[in-house]
Amino acid sequence: MSEKTLILVKPDGVKRGLTGEILKRIENKGYVITQLRMLEATPELLAKHYHEHVEKPFYSELVEYMTAGPIVAAVVEGTRVIEGVRALSGATDPTAAAPGTIRGDFGRSWEGGAIYNLIHSSDSPTSAAHEISVWFA
Ligand code: PPS
Repeated sequence: MSEKTLILVKPDGVKRGLTGEILKRIENKGYVITQLRMLEATPELLAKHYHEHVEKPFYSELVEYMTAGPIVAAVVEGTRVIEGVRALSGATDPTAAAPGTIRGDFGRSWEGGAIYNLIHSSDSPTSAAHEISVWFA
């Protein structure tokens, strides 16, 4: 059965002109973009999206990062797409992410505590359903 995932090209990806490159990698892999929008995230929307992390020490940095500019949100579909897009994205830490992945090829660490890692993708079918309802209400 086909599966859905929610991806976000984060503000650093949009600002750097990498939206097309990131979406191209997802499409080249054979997945299908079925919904797409650009928007600026509010703290309220982010609190719903990252509800598991609102109490974490890094949360204020995460919100500052995710409200720094426009985000491109997409619903992507295909068999095992959640696993596949996470493999394309690479590890959370862009310095450690493997070359060949989106984060490994285009991301790096910068001074300060924030992690600029270009892309979000859902980590489970439950998260995907929740996140799609948040970004495509
Ligand atoms: S945890 O505690 O292990 O569950 O957290 P983790 O999975 O590593 O990260 C959860 C999401 O928060 C993002 N993150 C950050 N963003 C900016 N700055 C800092 N310091 C930071 N730390 C964690 C991380 O990229 C995860 O977001 P997504 O969108 O899923 O990549």
